[in-house]
Amino acid sequence: MQAKKKILLGISGGIAAYKSLLLIRLFVKNNYEVKVVVTKNALEFVTPLSIETLSKNKVYKDVFESTGEYSTDHISLTDECDTFVVAPATANVIGKFANGIADDALSTSFLAFNKPVLIAPAMNSKMYEHKSVQENMQKLKNQGVEFIEPNSGELACGYDGKGRMSEPEEIFQKTESMLKGENTSLVGKKIMITAGPTYESIDPVRFIGNYSSGKMGYAIADEFAKKGAEVILISGPVAIESPAGVYRKNITSAEQMFHECVRWMPEMDVVVMAAAVADYRPKSSAEQKIKKTDPQMDLPLVKTVDILSHLGTMKSEKQILCGFALETENEIANATKKLHNKNLDIIVLNSLNDQGAGFAHDTNKISIIDSDEKIKEFELKSKNEVAQDIVLHIVEKMKL
Ligand code: CTP
Repeated sequence: MQAKKKILLGISGGIAAYKSLLLIRLFVKNNYEVKVVVTKNALEFVTPLSIETLSKNKVYKDVFESTGEYSTDHISLTDECDTFVVAPATANVIGKFANGIADDALSTSFLAFNKPVLIAPAMNSKMYEHKSVQENMQKLKNQGVEFIEPNSGELACGYDGKGRMSEPEEIFQKTESMLKGENTSLVGKKIMITAGPTYESIDPVRFIGNYSSGKMGYAIADEFAKKGAEVILISGPVAIESPAGVYRKNITSAEQMFHECVRWMPEMDVVVMAAAVADYRPKSSAEQKIKKTDPQMDLPLVKTVDILSHLGTMKSEKQILCGFALETENEIANATKKLHNKNLDIIVLNSLNDQGAGFAHDTNKISIIDSDEKIKEFELKSKNEVAQDIVLHIVEKMKL
């Protein structure tokens, strides 16, 4: 039988500490041995007895034992454990880690630990956004420390924003992937992809649609999910299966796609708008099937909302927005204009002039243009390979 993997779990003083108890249970249930080191403030939120009962191990809270003897527990702990998970990590603890301060059992353990470390921050959203906290996190990331980003939502302090610790399941999964040496670069990242056509209703049995198969968007969603990201796929009517591990939301019309995109946008790290959204829809949709009584028929059309442009106005500095352009002439110039007009970070250009590119094919030939107008051209490839190129390009931009 393989020896149990050992997790060193650091708990610091935040309300999310109660979730760490669930995390201990998850680790123990999945056959990990858990050693816990806490800060004094953590014990304002959780008790040594609950930690010891759940982990079935002594909790480490001081570098000095009650006898007054100096203990080297923190050193042997760091030697024996395979990975160090700090959840929740307060702004204070992150600051200490980033600056080499070792004034308690947790911060001393961090300095003595030379194996993979995962930090799950939890704090008020204004503190999380503060330049000092962001700089401290970047410093640690540069040292190879992994982070699992907090979620957005209602915080204990009454604020609504980013700062709520990731859920125990998410932290557990990322730890497992780290131990397996998997690519976890996107764990905890939230990605929204739109794909497929939209159908704009004419009457109960007819619509205006387009030939989009959804293949490109689905391949991108699959690629992001394989890298550990949390992916939501807003999909028009297509005949393909959902990629594994992706949350799919089906829509029919441009208006429905708009509402879904706007709803999810604020919590996304990356949005890729690969859908072929109808630019026009019938001014009204007839309640009954239209009869062919007239020799000629006019169908008044009105513009649909430009979803991508709207998302461009909502975009924060940290979000990456990627659009697509399908052009038949002056490709680069037109795509670059769209990139700027819609406030995008990246635009993927398909040219219908390229053989094998576009809707009906399993292959695609793209160029990627960045907001600084740098252009990267790619060969004709399968849509899966193109998806890999696009995701890789976005990941580079994310500066993880
Ligand atoms: N798009 C969108 N909402 C629309 C139309 C398009 O979000 N109502 C998005 C597409 O998903 C794509 C990008 O905008 O990512 C470019 O779409 P395209 O139709 O090529 O460009 P338009 O801006 O609509 O301009 P035009 O049709 O005039 O070329």
